[in-house]
Amino acid sequence: MIRSVVCGYGSCLPKRVVTNQELEGVVATTDDWIVQRTGIRQRYIAGDGETTCSLGEGAARAALDKAGLTAADIDLIIVATSTPDNTFPAAAVDIQNRLGMHHGAAFDVQAVCSGFVFALTTADAYLQSGLAKRALVIGAETFSRILDWNDRSTCVLFGDGAGAVILEAVESAGTYADRGILASKLRSDGQHKEKLYVDGGPSSTQTVGLLRMQGREVFKHAVGMITDVIESVFEATGMDADDIDWFVPHQANKRIIDASARKLGIDPEKVVITVDRYGNTSAASIPLALVDALDAGRIKDNDIVLLEAMGGGFTWGAVMIRW
Ligand code: UT7
Repeated sequence: MIRSVVCGYGSCLPKRVVTNQELEGVVATTDDWIVQRTGIRQRYIAGDGETTCSLGEGAARAALDKAGLTAADIDLIIVATSTPDNTFPAAAVDIQNRLGMHHGAAFDVQAVCSGFVFALTTADAYLQSGLAKRALVIGAETFSRILDWNDRSTCVLFGDGAGAVILEAVESAGTYADRGILASKLRSDGQHKEKLYVDGGPSSTQTVGLLRMQGREVFKHAVGMITDVIESVFEATGMDADDIDWFVPHQANKRIIDASARKLGIDPEKVVITVDRYGNTSAASIPLALVDALDAGRIKDNDIVLLEAMGGGFTWGAVMIRW
């Protein structure tokens, strides 16, 4: 069977770092509150000329370099984002053009903070069905542009950035000893819309809108949804927490990550944490964390890596990869 094997990865962050102390001058907050409630110490915020597409392009170029490939070798680009440069065309098409690529197909996937898991699973389905051979999957966001900078309950939580991986279709034995994506599970439930949404859009208000979140309500659902979907990936593969080498969760809040890992019985030493430095970068958070762990020499070939995300919609999902 065909497996989607990761053959390149890269990331791109805005130039400007904004610390919690700096935010003390913007809204009524403290470094102490932010660190204790979320684990966040700083985040990167896009400046003039930095956009979702420019950051996505940076991550894509880094991933192509790492893989020793050029855009000519790619036939599918999927971008996970909720903050595209324009309502349309898709960020993926913009990035395709920036890379000088005029063949293949490019489109966006919008599943908010779960976007990267949804995009990776979509790309895997394309590769497995023979519709594409090599896919560039990017998570790129500039949430700073849809934050209400007067709302202390949300503006301190998010950051900007982009991460990318390249998936290659590889003929494999069809066992869980194969490298590549071994299992994915995706879920969504629209009844939770009001708990995390943007209060505008082209067809409703003709404005972009700003992010609104009932944080405590999201928190209440997060751990249960995350652990349920991971348990269904464990069931599908016959693996369990002990088989995992690295747990790379969506980076929204260190308390949610710790509670999920604890409930699943995943050793804290196997958990990749970047929320302290990047904040919540929505669809970019998993690829940014992956690149961090890869660059630090933590994730190695053949390691079992478990990805997980939960976000607006609600949407949630998990992917297991043998690296
Ligand atoms: O990535 C998509 C998914 N999103 C998430 O996973 C986010 C999930 N939610 C969370 O991470 C947490 O709920 C938050 C970090 C957003 C909030 O933490 P919490 O422990 O749930 O706090 P809370 O909302 O219950 O607020 C506690 C207090 C409130 O004051 P009172 O009513 O107790 O007097 C807030 O007004 O903290 C206050 N507060 C703040 N204080 C200082 C809220 N934001 C701030 C702030 N600085 N930035």
